[in-house]
Amino acid sequence: MKEVFVFGSINADLVTSVSRMPTAGETIKGNDFIVNQGGKGANQAAACKKLGCERVRFIGAVGDDMFGEVILNSLKTYGVDCEAVAVKNGEQSGVCTILLDESRKDNFLILSSGANDTVTGGEVKEYLRLFARVGDIFITQLEMNLTAVGESLAAAKEIGMYTILNPAPAMKMSGEMLSRVDLLVLNETECESLSGINPENEADAQRAYEYFSSFGVKEAVITLGERGSYYINVNDGVIYCPSKKVKVVDTTSAGDTFIGALAMKKAQGFEIAESLEFATRCSAITVSKKGAAVSIPTYEEIVVAIK
Ligand code: RIB
Repeated sequence: MKEVFVFGSINADLVTSVSRMPTAGETIKGNDFIVNQGGKGANQAAACKKLGCERVRFIGAVGDDMFGEVILNSLKTYGVDCEAVAVKNGEQSGVCTILLDESRKDNFLILSSGANDTVTGGEVKEYLRLFARVGDIFITQLEMNLTAVGESLAAAKEIGMYTILNPAPAMKMSGEMLSRVDLLVLNETECESLSGINPENEADAQRAYEYFSSFGVKEAVITLGERGSYYINVNDGVIYCPSKKVKVVDTTSAGDTFIGALAMKKAQGFEIAESLEFATRCSAITVSKKGAAVSIPTYEEIVVAIK
């Protein structure tokens, strides 16, 4: 099986559940409050590993504050190799403040990147050169320094890795950066923000793909929450995968689970249609539980759920 390398963010998620959102200047009482390990990169790495990848290596950084050791240990407990995670002196760990609106089943996230922003493209390149091989999978997102992300994608392509970019949070990227992406996985908000196309239907998804592929992106998956997802590549056109109906508790890390599951299937050599179906099933379980990495199912849970 191919190995998976994730250059990504690792955060302490401070989550307050509320019955409704406050208005400006208003104080409301929250319901419950939890602190747990999140970060798009760390969640995606945890998903790959929990779902059955043999080896997942995470490249990132935490600070030497009250959260650093806790979130790093959490990621290690899932079996992710954290040898390439630096503990940076005097830095604050990444923190994500999350408001979970229980009435609308929606979440609102504010990220303070902290140590995540300190990892350089050179550091990632050096690690990949030492350990990655042709055909291994490289995943990254945009919660770290943008230049570092661009350089890491270039390094991964030089080695001959299969690259997955989750452009979240959405921000302007150069065409050069997109040209280094094999698979772009994004949600409808990110799709609209980056391409100007709201993916309402298959034709929109195709148009959005054409926009991204004009920069060199080879394949794309556009996720639409409860409306399912579209996969598009140049040869097969659009493949639609419907969502699974579940009781939604917390959507945090649903997208991360989806990406981790897709990467895991890619590492095992599966075809995309089957991988999409599997990833959709995994995310459905994630949204039925509260929290980030902790809510991602294990492979055993998926097997039980399918029975
Ligand atoms: O995708 C969910 C994640 O986004 C959260 O865990 C939070 O840390 C932010 O990075």
